[in-house]
Amino acid sequence: MTQQISLFDFWAEPEPPPPPTGATFANLDALVAAASQCQKCPLGATRTNIVVERGNRNAPLMIIGEGPGQNEDEQGLPFVGKAGQLLDKILASVNLDPDRDVYICNVVKCRPPGNRVPTDEEIESCKPYLLEQIRLVDPKIILLAGATAVRAITGEKQGITKIRGQWSQWEGRWVMPIFHPAYLLRNPSREQGSPKWLMWQDIQAVKRKLEELMLS
Ligand code: URA
Repeated sequence: MTQQISLFDFWAEPEPPPPPTGATFANLDALVAAASQCQKCPLGATRTNIVVERGNRNAPLMIIGEGPGQNEDEQGLPFVGKAGQLLDKILASVNLDPDRDVYICNVVKCRPPGNRVPTDEEIESCKPYLLEQIRLVDPKIILLAGATAVRAITGEKQGITKIRGQWSQWEGRWVMPIFHPAYLLRNPSREQGSPKWLMWQDIQAVKRKLEELMLS
């Protein structure tokens, strides 16, 4: 019996373009699909959901945190718990909308049990995803929230209190370490010189730099 071939047999979705040489993923959807299947480190076995991103995939500003907590693991989105709510307030204080102006992600995409700090091996296993996120989003500014993000990206091991608020260049992008919002929740004072007060200085400097870069 001859098989009928209809027009729909030829009507396939166009293939996405291949990634450029040296890159792994053609786009962020491909990255999310791969990360959802990932078992490269032991965190894959204990996660509820993979936690890759929230915000605008074309944003000029990227914020990198440490790793998902319980709320993030349950919802599959980064920074949606108490620390995330504070982060959104900090951004709103300088008129930055997390859905429009910012792309938010973490060093590791699966929750470390008990919210422990991810190990060097876990960070290294997950780093290719983070580097691809940076390449694909192509932000002008990256904020490294907390010591783990600083260590993962720059290798710098100095305490965050020493280096927060300092601009440097990393691979052609402006980078600034900032306090992790969870640290600010544990240190609620707003007095001059307190971590919250310093964060307020830092986010204003970020807003100024963003405006400067968007105009140039
Ligand atoms: N802390 C982080 O570093 N990332 C999150 O997504 C939530 C809390």
